[in-house]
Amino acid sequence: MSDLNSLFEAAKAVREKAYAPYSNFLVGAALRTPDGTVFTGCNVENASYPVSVCAEGGAVGAMIAAGHTKIAEAVVVGDAALCTPCGMCRQRLKEFATNDLVVHVADLNGIRRSFTMDELLPAAFELEDKKD
Ligand code: THU
Repeated sequence: MSDLNSLFEAAKAVREKAYAPYSNFLVGAALRTPDGTVFTGCNVENASYPVSVCAEGGAVGAMIAAGHTKIAEAVVVGDAALCTPCGMCRQRLKEFATNDLVVHVADLNGIRRSFTMDELLPAAFELEDKKD
C-alpha cells in the first residue's frame, strides 16, 4: 500500500469514530509528519454547537501532544463531493504546514482532489517570528 493510500485508509477508519449526532456528517483526518508518523482525528460535536471540534483539530492536537510540529501531507475524508477543510481548519493546518504540504480531499471511495496549502489559504496570516 502506498504512503498516500495508507494515509487515506487511516482517515477513513478514524472517521468511523466521529461523534456527530447533530450534523450526522462524519469526518476523518490523517496527518503525516516529515518523518512518516501519522496522526488522526475525527469531528467531535457538542450540544452547544460552537464547542464542536473538527477532525483536523483533533488530529493536530494529537500531533502536538506527541511532540511533532510539522505536517507534510494530510487527507480529509467526508461523505461529500468535496469535503474541503473549513476556513478555521485551513488556518490551523497552515500553522504547522511544511512548505510543500498537500491536503488531499477524499470521499469514501478515495481521493477526489488535492490542494497545496497556498491554494487553500492564499495570503495566509502568519507572524514573522513564529518559532519552528
Ligand atoms: N467538519 C470537519 O470535521 N472537517 C471538515 O473539514 C469539514 C467539516 C465537521 C464539522 C461538523 O462537525 C461537521 O463536519 C458538519 O459541518
